Amino acid sequence: MIDIDSRTDMSLYESDPMGTSCGKAILMGEHAVVHGVPALVAGLDRGASAWIESAERDEIFFGTNRLETNHELYKGLEAVRALFTDQPLRLSLQLELPAGCGLGASAALGVAAIRAIAKYTGREEERKVAYAADLWEAVFHGNASGVDAAAARLGGVLQFQKGHEPATLALREPLRLAIAQAGPPAPTRKMVELVAQQKSRNPTLFDKNLEAFEALTNNASACLRGGDLQSLGKLFDLAQMLLAGWLVSSEEIEIACNIARNNGALGAKLTGAGGGGCVIAVGNVDEIIKAWQAAGLNSFSCEVGSTTPHCEH
Ligand code: MEV
Repeated sequence: MIDIDSRTDMSLYESDPMGTSCGKAILMGEHAVVHGVPALVAGLDRGASAWIESAERDEIFFGTNRLETNHELYKGLEAVRALFTDQPLRLSLQLELPAGCGLGASAALGVAAIRAIAKYTGREEERKVAYAADLWEAVFHGNASGVDAAAARLGGVLQFQKGHEPATLALREPLRLAIAQAGPPAPTRKMVELVAQQKSRNPTLFDKNLEAFEALTNNASACLRGGDLQSLGKLFDLAQMLLAGWLVSSEEIEIACNIARNNGALGAKLTGAGGGGCVIAVGNVDEIIKAWQAAGLNSFSCEVGSTTPHCEH
């Protein structure tokens, strides 16, 4: 719910942001990561930016738009602001990612906001930022693993396991990814609950799947360290099969993966919570993007694991 406020002075947005963050693409291990399995996640060089000013009551702006006070982002702001200050704040945000489609927009907004608040209050301890980012994610996604928040904060390619410090992976070379918005997004919370239901239905089978995802993450990590894109592509395809078995794929996702595979991809999979949202592929990225665009899919390429100036923290 966005209503138009009378804010006309946009010069704030021309000043350097007080907080920035990365978007993310999960390379391997979405959903399994919620159940303790390590995942691989890449920070994207597009994310969010935030500015903080003093205010008489909490306010959140996107450009000239002031969000109505019942917008869910206020719950996030309220939760994290309390860790830094009891003074109300005006938070101004910019987002460089499509929202709600598996690229970590909510964590990116949260981390940018938290970094801006931390800077404004002179309390920029990284541990505090990390804690606040997890709190923000819990407001929006319930039982979140923290993987999105870690990628938004740190960038690069990370091996992430719930409850452990994320480890940056040294890639043999930066990884080029093709990313397409395959279909309308589904809420992360709903998809996480859907997977949890499978666990309660058949815990033994579920544990076997977790073992398979762990092997996929470890093998994908070896591929990235050794620069073996062919094998990484095969692992993407295997992961997509297992994710479809957890019912988090969709017709649109399968179509987008197949278009990629028929047009230069070495492998393709959904990324994030699924049920819609985005697909990633490796291989001949330019050819894949061309084919997706010809099919009317919003898509772009990006390089991960290189220096990401947006996420230099
Ligand atoms: C969402 O980007 C990734 C999930 O694994 C949820 C989580 O880890 O919090 C689906």
